[in-house]
Amino acid sequence: PVTPQGCPVSDRAAAFTPFGDEYQHDPGAALAWAREQEPVFYSPELGYWVVTRYEDVKAIFRDNITFSPSIALEKITPTITEADEVLRSYGYAMNRTLVNEDEPEHMPRRRVLMEPFTAPALVEREDMVRRMAREAVDAFVDDGEVDLVTEMLYQVPLTVAMRFLGVPEEDIGPLKEYSVAHTVNTWGRPNPEEQVRVAHAVGNFWRYAGHVLDKIRQDPSGPGWMQYSVRKQAEHPDVVTDSYLHSIMMAGIVAAHETTAHAAANAVKLLLERRERWEELCARPALIPNAVEECLRYSGSVAAWRRVATTDTEVGGVSIAEGSKLLIVQATANRDPRHFEDAERFDPRRESAGEHLTFGYGAHQCMGKNLARMELQIFLQELTTRLPHLELVEQDFQYVPNTSFRGPEHLRVRWDPARNPERHDP
Ligand code: HEM
Repeated sequence: PVTPQGCPVSDRAAAFTPFGDEYQHDPGAALAWAREQEPVFYSPELGYWVVTRYEDVKAIFRDNITFSPSIALEKITPTITEADEVLRSYGYAMNRTLVNEDEPEHMPRRRVLMEPFTAPALVEREDMVRRMAREAVDAFVDDGEVDLVTEMLYQVPLTVAMRFLGVPEEDIGPLKEYSVAHTVNTWGRPNPEEQVRVAHAVGNFWRYAGHVLDKIRQDPSGPGWMQYSVRKQAEHPDVVTDSYLHSIMMAGIVAAHETTAHAAANAVKLLLERRERWEELCARPALIPNAVEECLRYSGSVAAWRRVATTDTEVGGVSIAEGSKLLIVQATANRDPRHFEDAERFDPRRESAGEHLTFGYGAHQCMGKNLARMELQIFLQELTTRLPHLELVEQDFQYVPNTSFRGPEHLRVRWDPARNPERHDP
């Protein structure tokens, strides 16, 4: 095969499949060869240029004019007509949300909606997150074995996301049902049958999000981000439009939930696989904030993101034509030895750990990063304090095949409840 510009594609580039086991299990390692030998390559299977070095990935994130985020949530697998029709039947009209919109619209909106994400506003959320994490642990602390993903690390970020957005209590359950389909819909390779099933779930999700938004409009006085956005609409109707609110109601749940849930599962898995690191955190909880950054660097939950070139340009010395799509792989960039010393070593004390690109960079950098960090820190604090002798059960880890959202679907752990510190020192 050849690139759209007519250059031959190497064998390894032609063989790359992000839906295979290697990339799913460890995307950073799966593309290490490219970072060293062919840092910007064309993938005929995806129809994307794949970018793997730290400096190149960061430069692309930094320049959102040359490299537009407009395709960030585009379906990476083109859909069959039947699935499109199903979506249409639900009135599905997902519009641009912050993450995939261009300037000059994006920045004014980001500014108007930022306040609930700032440090002072997040302080108010901390007690809630800790209480939920504790209650989750209370429910299984005496059991001796649990799937941490289903019982805690998936569940708590979902409820936190709903509360952060301001979803009324009675609607949290139904919305949970629907949000799952989104990852496959956006970054997966569903077959035609799955596409139709997923389209129904996404359509229902869209409808329900509209219904919840209507309710919030009736009383927009609460502390949620949606209530805040509805209030801002009154001041800036051109910036915060109706269509925008409906889209963010749905996209916000996905942005806040799965990213954080996967990051938490990746972190606990990584630490338990390196027992001495886990024990270090049990002994020195002050290391936890930096350990969270190192987990996000080494095994982040967003493995790759997307941009499209708005003009003829160049990345790492490779010419890129206007309209080319780029898969920028944070997982590989985060282990680039040109940026991180001894990059393959997992080290919770690494000073530069926070320079990872897992939250993106520049104008679109994740707005929820500090909420996510807070959740991850609290989870590790609670688990290392209450279950320091936790260990991984031997298991095969499963991942939902997709290019971008990455975390194990289950994480079975065990411990001896007789050794729980609270039994001896309640
Ligand atoms: C954007 C990752 C948690 C809300 C993004 C982007 C990434 C990302 C890669 C795109 C960045 C770019 O284009 O430069 C993550 C990860 C998370 C996480 C890895 C957890 C570990 C959250 C949470 C929320 C959130 C908890 C909300 C409460 C957003 C929003 C944007 C965004 C609103 C769009 C910002 C913009 O385009 O201006 N996130 N995210 N994220 N994220 Fe997150």
